Amino acid sequence: MKILIASSIDADTIATLRKDHDVVCDFHAKTETLPALLKDREVLIFRSGISITAEVMASAPQLKLLVRAGSGFDNIDMDYVQAHNLALFRIPEPGAKAVAEMSFALMLTLARNILEADRLTKQGRWAKNELTGYALTGRTLGIVGAGNIGSRVGELGVAWGMRVIGCVANPSAKVLSSLHEKGIRLTSFDEVIETADYVSLHVPLSDSTRNMINADVLGRMKPGAFLINLARGGVVDELALYQALTEGQLRGAGMDVHKAEGEGKISPLAGLSNVILTPHIGAGTFDAQREIGERIVEIIETFVAEQAKKAQAKAPVVMA
Ligand code: MLT
Repeated sequence: MKILIASSIDADTIATLRKDHDVVCDFHAKTETLPALLKDREVLIFRSGISITAEVMASAPQLKLLVRAGSGFDNIDMDYVQAHNLALFRIPEPGAKAVAEMSFALMLTLARNILEADRLTKQGRWAKNELTGYALTGRTLGIVGAGNIGSRVGELGVAWGMRVIGCVANPSAKVLSSLHEKGIRLTSFDEVIETADYVSLHVPLSDSTRNMINADVLGRMKPGAFLINLARGGVVDELALYQALTEGQLRGAGMDVHKAEGEGKISPLAGLSNVILTPHIGAGTFDAQREIGERIVEIIETFVAEQAKKAQAKAPVVMA
């Protein structure tokens, strides 16, 4: 197959794919440069940080298979995919484990002033008495979007001795019982926002979630709460969050995703000492990326085998 890998994936996976396929890699591909790269490609492998628009896909007449090496579908035109019957696979599970751990990395770093402690200690300042932090154990963890990733965050919260509550867009009896088994109490968005000490966001970006964490919602959060965003930057109104953090409504925020992402982009929250900013690395563990890579190879092998079967079925039967 003729493959374009448009985002960085596991290096061993690329080497494996190269053995049987014609592979082109451009990890810095942009929406504008994709058409030229895709013009003879049959497979596109991509992550977040790049928009797979209808125009991009229309520029690739041979395109048959799209592999989203992760979870989110917000950067691909799904109407085009459906209308043109393209095969699209996503690989949500491996990244979910990594993102759930990252939520705890951000909560703990904020709650225990780890960045400030490190900075001062390296300067020779022994700020032991100035760096008292907050516990996670015994506190309420609120999950907005207790789905695949959010429920894993909840499970880790339960193991940490937190009271865990969560909300989902369409609660069903099945979801309720599966969350209950994990120790997560399903409740309303309002209760999560108004009572949690730590709020972790895990909703996909859509018209209904864009700017869902706005000035009104931030104003209703428990005073002194921490906000963690590992979902999508568009879910949070960053200017309203800036205000909530500077006015003391929130104690801190950990943001792995941002309204504007990419080289040279600086968040409006960058100047605040009670904010941790990371460059969309939630799913970025070697472990998760290795697992995603193994799935990519399986998906492509299965696709090739199915294509071959279909071609054989169509071939005329030659009678002896
Ligand atoms: C995802 O949706 O899986 C994440 O954004 C990971 C990524 O693509 O970088």
